[in-house]
Amino acid sequence: MDRISTTETFAGISYPGHLHTKESLQLAQDFQFQDMDILIATFPKSGTTWMQEILTLIYNKGDSVVAETLPNWLRTPWLEHTYFRDLVQENGGLRIITTHLPYDILAPALKNSKAKVIYMVRNPKDVAVSYYHFHKFAKFLPEPGNFGKFLDRFLNGTVHYGSWFQHVKGWLRHQENASFFLITYEDMHRELRCSIERLCGFLNHSLSSEELDRVEEHCSFGNMSQNRMVNCTLISPEILDHSKGKFMRKGKVGDWKQHFTVAQNNLFERIYQEEMSHCKHCFLMTL
Ligand code: A3P
Repeated sequence: MDRISTTETFAGISYPGHLHTKESLQLAQDFQFQDMDILIATFPKSGTTWMQEILTLIYNKGDSVVAETLPNWLRTPWLEHTYFRDLVQENGGLRIITTHLPYDILAPALKNSKAKVIYMVRNPKDVAVSYYHFHKFAKFLPEPGNFGKFLDRFLNGTVHYGSWFQHVKGWLRHQENASFFLITYEDMHRELRCSIERLCGFLNHSLSSEELDRVEEHCSFGNMSQNRMVNCTLISPEILDHSKGKFMRKGKVGDWKQHFTVAQNNLFERIYQEEMSHCKHCFLMTL
């Protein structure tokens, strides 16, 4: 497959050059958040698109017209991408912004802001598997090699967007803040309705039971897989080789069990313990 991958490096972390430049990353760091802003922060493959869709539906009271007519990168744009400045509204209204940047880069901008932050975290074993499959068909990412090779890069933090461990530890330092909401992919998978209700509580945005029904129904894996505004089928084959994989791949909890060898699992668990067990503000996930 012909790769179009180039790399941009910023503050020691590499990013796909296809979507990021030094300037776009610097603009992201210097961004002035407004109090009404909502920031979705995730490490890639943690359920970002799912959260973008849920928030779109919540703010449209369960009406799916916007979600079915406007691509997710237009309605909930990524702060660090090159097109962000052209899209972002400056009129003081609600803005839902997405980021994969580490907390340290945005900490100064968030410190003096009442912007609400939603941090979504997923079992890193499933993140690694999902990210590996994404690399296979995303031509703007480096060739992943076999799963074992990719897993080594994931564990030592040399994949694009850096180390999962540093990302999670960094963002969880922000959790004392009243405007921070932490949710896991696994919680959403187990109890989508309850997760949507908790999100509505955090956002001070109440919905009727019928509206909640519509949000829940629209945001199921089956429905989102059919929605061209989020399933990435609008993206040209020069960027995503659709014959090699699907963005809405499986949407499962525990798919890592189909990929990891016993040795890979033992290594992962050891590194997870080393990285996370001394982190006072972190919680240990059941891996
Ligand atoms: P898999 O590759 O494991 O299927 P991101 O949006 O952060 O890139 O994350 C993509 C992952 O979230 C993919 O995981 C995708 O299938 C999953 N996902 C997206 N929407 C989902 C939904 N409604 N329910 C469950 N998983 C979803």
